[in-house]
Amino acid sequence: MAEMDRPNESCIIKNSLYQSHEITARVVKAGDHAIDATCGNGGDTLFLAGLTGEGGKVYSFDIQREALDRTSDRLKKEGLYGRVELIHDTHERMDEYVKEKVRCVMFNLGYLPGGDHSIGTRGESTIAAVKKAMELLMVNGIITIVVYYGGDSGFSEKEEILDFIRTINYKQYTVTKTEFVNQINCPPILVCIEKLF
Ligand SMILES: C[S@@+](CC[C@H](N)C(=O)[O-])C[C@H]1O[C@@H](n2cnc3c(N)ncnc32)[C@H](O)[C@@H]1O
Repeated sequence: MAEMDRPNESCIIKNSLYQSHEITARVVKAGDHAIDATCGNGGDTLFLAGLTGEGGKVYSFDIQREALDRTSDRLKKEGLYGRVELIHDTHERMDEYVKEKVRCVMFNLGYLPGGDHSIGTRGESTIAAVKKAMELLMVNGIITIVVYYGGDSGFSEKEEILDFIRTINYKQYTVTKTEFVNQINCPPILVCIEKLF
């Protein structure tokens, strides 16, 4: 059975996206500021807006206007629009928009579901953005990266990211990689980075 076909609700070991939400929910509190580095259809942005609450703020980036429009519609329907700043720009420039420290940054790599599969995240720009996110993170804040690979996403971004995270200074950041080792169809990998000081 493919990873994405596993019945997430009845399994104890949830998929990588679910696990990224679990750890983020443990860390983010009402009033916090957070970043969704890959807005897409807005699932993670809505999730973060729920956690940060009325007094908090979510910055949500995407290079595709279509993604931001879809997310804007969803936020308005849920009454969460006022908590989110939607930014039509690459996440490599997140430091030009976010001037305060944030509690978490979520990356959900790959292409826009229901969109153009040729417009996806790329290793070089993703790594540049993760480095910016590491600087913006507050102590004990968390970065989650759900790494899709195979199919239209290919393999190079995954390899570049896994090479990069092994080089991160262990004294300043704790880095984990969670992967499914007996599934088929390239189930996404979860990378978490916690800032220690
Ligand atoms: C898998 S989707 C994200 C899914 C989304 N988080 C959700 O909950 O629906 C990946 C998104 O990353 C966007 N993207 C690709 N390169 C980007 C970049 N350099 N900066 C910001 N977003 C980018 C794509 O346009 C796409 O919408």
